[in-house]
Amino acid sequence: MDIADCREFFPSVTTPLPGGRLPIYLDGPGGSQVPASVVTAMTGYYLSSNANTHGAFWTSRLTDRTITEARLAAADFLGASSPETISFGQNMTTLNFLLSEAIAGTLKPGDEIVVTELDHEANVAPWLRLQDRGIRVRQIPLRDDGRLDSDAWAHTLSSRTKLVALGWASNALGTVNPVAEIRQWTRQVGAWLLIDAVHWAPHGPIDVGALEPDFLLCSSYKFFGPHVGILYSAPGRLEALPTLRVRTQNPHPPYRIETGTLNHAALAGVTGAINFIAACGQAGETRRDRLQDAMKRIYAYEHRLVADLYQELLNIPGIRVYGPPVDDNPRTPTLSFTVDGCHSAEVASLLAAEDIYVWDGDFYALGVLTHYGLQDQGGLVRIGLAPYNTAEEITRTVEVLAQIASARGSKRP
Ligand SMILES: Cc1ncc(COP(=O)(O)O)c(C=O)c1O
Repeated sequence: MDIADCREFFPSVTTPLPGGRLPIYLDGPGGSQVPASVVTAMTGYYLSSNANTHGAFWTSRLTDRTITEARLAAADFLGASSPETISFGQNMTTLNFLLSEAIAGTLKPGDEIVVTELDHEANVAPWLRLQDRGIRVRQIPLRDDGRLDSDAWAHTLSSRTKLVALGWASNALGTVNPVAEIRQWTRQVGAWLLIDAVHWAPHGPIDVGALEPDFLLCSSYKFFGPHVGILYSAPGRLEALPTLRVRTQNPHPPYRIETGTLNHAALAGVTGAINFIAACGQAGETRRDRLQDAMKRIYAYEHRLVADLYQELLNIPGIRVYGPPVDDNPRTPTLSFTVDGCHSAEVASLLAAEDIYVWDGDFYALGVLTHYGLQDQGGLVRIGLAPYNTAEEITRTVEVLAQIASARGSKRP
């Protein structure tokens, strides 16, 4: 399927609101819309496979298969060599807290963890709390251009660094970090690298086989699936960690960090979402090949749209865009801005009145907001594009934003 044609598979995107207008979903970084096939997969689980795991009977066996299929699908999506490297949880944040607790059990006072000012709280708070146990948490600062200060790595990393917790892409600014380069630097000091790929996963290909992170996390509701957190652990990593577990829990990966019963229907949805993405790929024999092709196509499609949006926003007097420019460098299709003289919550409300859905605020990227001093402004307004968005939607959004900015401009002294 052509990326431009994928829209028709999303009922929420193509069904008019009671007033007759189609909603414009620009809220993707907060969670994408879901294709009908994912809903069918989830309801199908409840209709024909609903049971707990490892029973002697048919539906229990189907449930075991549902879970195995989800691990295989996620392994294909991430480029992992085996399904045993894939663990599931409630969401990325919860998995990361469980992981931080387990990793803390291997650290001693004076050891260091490096986080960044660009990251989402889900990849900062789990590490900051370890300061109570004598672990030093250091931070790579953000520059005004929306990128991390690359010079800071050299004097922050040392033999004391045990872990670097890094976002692949910023959900607030669309910045894409040079993860492969940072992997080399962490290797030089013998530190583990944990990647928060939640915001990158919907927008570009991931290959853990090539990148070789120690851990990588993402969340299926950002890429057309239900609310499930996914953790990739490099072979050998999870076994070594004292995870929180009940005595009856399987102590081996991938189960070692999976506390309690998983959301089986949602896992059927994870497989559905990954199969949907694979169907957007046109080249390749295997699902992994098609997924990689699909993610490249999604990236190219979204990049064209966001490049137009970026130019249009720059041309509207009173709008200030934050984060790196949209050029040939890697970037996600996420643009954040402020409108002079208008609180960001009000901009979002004025857009919502036109059935244009965007987020405003801090998006849990507290470091970004503090860096730019945007608290009084109500943070940023964020437009996040997805493959189901169209050029017409961008045109309409720009039109409304120009009206909002010009109405505010005429009120300014
Ligand atoms: C970059 C990033 N990391 C982590 C998270 C947290 O993910 P979850 O909602 O699955 O806990 C989010 C959620 O918005 C995010 O955008």
